[in-house]
Amino acid sequence: MSAPVAPAATGDIRAVTLRFGADLAGFRAAVRALVAAQVPPAGVAWAMAAPGGRTSAETERADLFGIPAAAAGTPTDAPALSLPRAVAGLVDLVLCHREPERFARLYTLIWRVLHGERQLADNPADPLVHRLGLMAKAVRRDIHKMHAFVRFKALGMENGRERFVAWFEPDHFIVEAVAPFFRKRFPAMDWAILTPAGTVGWNGEHLAFGPPAGRPHLPEGDGFEEGWLAYYASVFNPARANPTMMRAEMPKKYWPNLPEARLIPGLLEGAPARVADMIAREASAPRKRDPVRAVAAMAHQAPASLAELNALISATPAFVSGGTRAVLGEGPPGAVLALVGEQPGDQEDVEGRPFVGPAGQLLMKAMAEAGLVREATYLTNAVKHFKFVQRGKRRLHQKPTGGEVKHYRWWLDAELDFVKPRLVVALGGTAALALSGETLAVTRARGPRPLGARDGLVTYHPSYLLRLPDETARREAYAALVADLTLAKTLAEAA
Ligand code: URA
Repeated sequence: MSAPVAPAATGDIRAVTLRFGADLAGFRAAVRALVAAQVPPAGVAWAMAAPGGRTSAETERADLFGIPAAAAGTPTDAPALSLPRAVAGLVDLVLCHREPERFARLYTLIWRVLHGERQLADNPADPLVHRLGLMAKAVRRDIHKMHAFVRFKALGMENGRERFVAWFEPDHFIVEAVAPFFRKRFPAMDWAILTPAGTVGWNGEHLAFGPPAGRPHLPEGDGFEEGWLAYYASVFNPARANPTMMRAEMPKKYWPNLPEARLIPGLLEGAPARVADMIAREASAPRKRDPVRAVAAMAHQAPASLAELNALISATPAFVSGGTRAVLGEGPPGAVLALVGEQPGDQEDVEGRPFVGPAGQLLMKAMAEAGLVREATYLTNAVKHFKFVQRGKRRLHQKPTGGEVKHYRWWLDAELDFVKPRLVVALGGTAALALSGETLAVTRARGPRPLGARDGLVTYHPSYLLRLPDETARREAYAALVADLTLAKTLAEAA
């Protein structure tokens, strides 16, 4: 098999051309081949192909075997190298740097590590290590900024899924490095991020990478942007406004792509008056206020649609310990029946969808027996984040406190106002508390009853059934759950 290193026309210099961007696989394969052939750093001429252009390995294979470049990978027979972890970490980051010198610098580092300087990467006083450290830091910062400053525009629905697109201008080739972050954050929507350094898209199943894009490729939006602006204005705290810090955290070069940036001058200008207003309101407020309701009220605005509300919920940090992401309600607005659980569990947190873990599967079984279809039912939770403590590798569920449930009540209420179910089912005591404001013992409160201003029905939470140690009790509770869901279906359809 051919090595991905082509001999150059002149002397001993080997030409290595890598794929456009951060070609980690190509670089690794080339380094293995170069080391095996004992080519010192001074004997290599590194280059990066133009977007869509051929790498040296592809060119060589195409020339040798007459096979199309697209079929030519970068395999090599050369053995894998054993490198210290610090070196591998530097390679991953520095390869994303835009400087053309990155390949030569990294190869020099690897060459020296393999030739007697095993601990080299741990010596920050070495000029090469120092330089690579700065490059890695710049890439890390760029990744952090991209995580924080990508803003999606809504393009509407296609095949039943919402589509979003964003434009971003990173300093370095970080599109592949940031893609997993966005996949985890927005698993349930289709999205694409266009950048001059490459594009990435997600269709709910796969990430796909494409060539660089220009700003004109960005389609026009969008209702989502308005929702985001409303949210930004509502959470902007005039009492904490610090223009110098804001500029440091959100440098001006990002402003053209940040819709909220155009609000900042006006918000800063109005800050003193708003602070005075807040102080006056606080002085007259008789009791502790719900902070979420307070920020929305402060800006005299509420989300105008379920999508806008969901954007707000997703953008708001967890109020419970652990919670990595908001798990939003799921189902058609206008569903006649809504089921409300306690909070997402471990699996729901990973997948970003309610009721997909063990309790969710039991609920699906009971719903099916009651003649209920998941896709036609609105499923949500009282608390939108998974509250847990980490024990080794396990994330152990923690019951939310009354205060935490109260904190999230505003979200739930607003959500159900948009969905407008005819009947809400409280699965367990936490949901009953969130919906009614009362602490109810489920065994005694089971069955139809008003929950706050809504027609409701209280039943067991499926997790309660999973925890029952006694088989007979479990079977009885399951039969009761199915009976309650059957009744809920009848009541909702008749209402
Ligand atoms: N338990 C809940 O209350 N909600 C979920 O989404 C999953 C488990």
